[in-house]
Amino acid sequence: MTKHPDLIILEQKPFNAAPPLNLLRQAFITPESGFFVRNHGSIPEVDLVNYRLSVTGNVQQSLNFSLDELRAAFPKRTITATLHCAGNRRDELMKVAPIPDEEAWGASAISNAVWGGVWLTEVLHKAGVEPDAQHVAFSGLDDVEKEGRKFHFGGSIPIAKALNSEVLLAYEMNGEPLTLMHGFPLRVVVPGYIGARSVKWLSKITLQSAPSDNYFQTQAYKLFPPDVQAETADWEQAPMLEELFVNAVICQPADKAILSTNLILVEGYAIAGGNRHIERVELSLDLGTTWVQVQLLEKPQPGTWQFWQHQLELQSDTTELIVRAWDSQGNTQPQNLEQVWNFKGYMNNAWHRVRINKSQ
Ligand code: MTE
Repeated sequence: MTKHPDLIILEQKPFNAAPPLNLLRQAFITPESGFFVRNHGSIPEVDLVNYRLSVTGNVQQSLNFSLDELRAAFPKRTITATLHCAGNRRDELMKVAPIPDEEAWGASAISNAVWGGVWLTEVLHKAGVEPDAQHVAFSGLDDVEKEGRKFHFGGSIPIAKALNSEVLLAYEMNGEPLTLMHGFPLRVVVPGYIGARSVKWLSKITLQSAPSDNYFQTQAYKLFPPDVQAETADWEQAPMLEELFVNAVICQPADKAILSTNLILVEGYAIAGGNRHIERVELSLDLGTTWVQVQLLEKPQPGTWQFWQHQLELQSDTTELIVRAWDSQGNTQPQNLEQVWNFKGYMNNAWHRVRINKSQ
């Protein structure tokens, strides 16, 4: 394994881990060693000699590729894209009310890489998309066990998203071949969507009239309002999660940090969903009454996170720093955790708060 020794391991089997926030914020392009890992099942053994990607369903012609054939058939494309797990920041929601049987992700179930591979749309065009192909379903090689059943991880995206020159079938991460941990030999990268749709160890692409019937599309990764509990959940009615919500997080100082100086540099990330970008990020030192705009460090663009920073002088009565972001369509973040709490613990984008203390 090539992972950084400081990674916080949430679970060994399946392996789930994320970097501490200060490590995460060190590099705009996250090195593979510090990239968070989210697995629902076993990491498969992949034999490249026998590996095949199939493209079937509502297509004029089914296709089948080895990795070399895929690389030879289509031009290499690259895209910088952030993967963001829908369970990011679940640990804060768990303090509002219990969320059993889910990982307690902090705010670092997110990372950014330069991915190399082929556009999904070019593969789909070669297969010939039939008019009734409304969804593109992906299936991985890993085995997941849920409710006494064993099956492959999977999910789908709408055809309109799949046909954009942004959804990648990636065989490279940061200029290196994809590692087994991140989906070798081939994974999907769906910028602006929840990480679950970026299926690793991709073996099958199916064009179909309905969304994937995989557990991770029909049960997990659905969003319920705060008053619904597991026992009362109507899985068919609840919306499937797709585009990320606008979000911002303070990476430094850490929560409950004891600061020895009044002049501090606040650093963090922000991200917008879909094809939106971050418009502005704001900090409040007075519990949300007034806000100051912080400095964005890169040119905002859809699909990738945004690093930001702000130098400030703490007032004697400052106990908490709060951040919120606005996206290019005027969406912003809800104030309180209670407003976004849901029994699966997804999509927490409430204002992010960091409590501070000053040393005497
Ligand atoms: N693909 C497969 N085959 N199996 C998985 O468990 N997890 C998904 C997605 N793709 C998963 C998968 C989830 S929930 C996330 S957030 C991302 O992969 C995480 O990608 P990473 O482990 O490369 O960070």
